[in-house]
Amino acid sequence: MTSTTSPLDVRNPVVAHTRVELAAALEEVRSKGGRVGLVPTMGALHAGHRSLIQVARELTDAVVVSIFVNPLQFGPNEDLGRYPRAFEADLTLCSDEGVDVVFAPGAGEVYPGGEPHVMIDPGPLARILEGGSRPTHFRGVLTVVAKLFGLVGPDLAVFGQKDYQQLVLIRRMAEDLCMGVEIVGAETAREAGGLALSSRNQYLDEEQQMLAATLSRALRAGADAGRNGSERALAAAHDVLRDAERGGVIALDYLELTSPTLGKAPESGEARLLVAARVGTTRLIDNIAVVLRQ
Ligand code: PAJ
Repeated sequence: MTSTTSPLDVRNPVVAHTRVELAAALEEVRSKGGRVGLVPTMGALHAGHRSLIQVARELTDAVVVSIFVNPLQFGPNEDLGRYPRAFEADLTLCSDEGVDVVFAPGAGEVYPGGEPHVMIDPGPLARILEGGSRPTHFRGVLTVVAKLFGLVGPDLAVFGQKDYQQLVLIRRMAEDLCMGVEIVGAETAREAGGLALSSRNQYLDEEQQMLAATLSRALRAGADAGRNGSERALAAAHDVLRDAERGGVIALDYLELTSPTLGKAPESGEARLLVAARVGTTRLIDNIAVVLRQ
């Protein structure tokens, strides 16, 4: 027996475009036994998605990646039409990471009757932060994630802390609706300069990319100042953002300190600092864990 790998050993994932193909691929996966992990994505995969797949591989025996740009979570004036699509490159990344099944359905496959009559009501946590400017966004996210859980039936699903409010709401949904899926939150993957990786970074030119890194610098300054209390944490983050705001390059939407589950921030202990801003016409979000001391 030899331990060297040849190109013949590289396993391509099974690609399923329909529910029937998915069911067949899952039957094959399940026949081998073990736990199934799901990584839901909208494609244009980057190193952040890659790290989620690696987490799922560590924790389960078979990994399913879904690639679906979900129209239900885009508002009327959002970027659904120009959202980046890169299916061939996505498949290569999935193949490199040893993904077992890629589920890439069309909208007609996911929503055969058009917009579903029954959708998930995400509750009050969907009305704050991102929900303030995107009132139907999380209803769309939770509805598609619930559908994917129904179609794939995973034991575990991995989501990024990058979209922190989304992660908290999906945890809440899985718990409140007894979905029996373990939700894992993976660390945010960043550029060397700190900018959180995002498919939307493609919209930024080089100068905007540099300025966008201000967001993560502000969060880090806030987290560092957390040892002096919540007011200092917020002030330190605002200080970093102020110059970029004054220059008119960054338009701040919100900068908020909350509890780890998005409730009121505690006086001391674990908290979360979340930011959203527009850089040019591109809206970016980021967040960081903070430990507050009084
Ligand atoms: P998408 O933006 O493609 O992100 C897919 C997953 O990758 C999400 O869990 C997101 O939090 C995670 N992710 C994105 N950037 C990351 C980064 N820099 N580091 C770590 N993880 C990162 O989020 C969605 O798609 C959709 O809303 C979806 C959940 C698929 C429902 O349609």
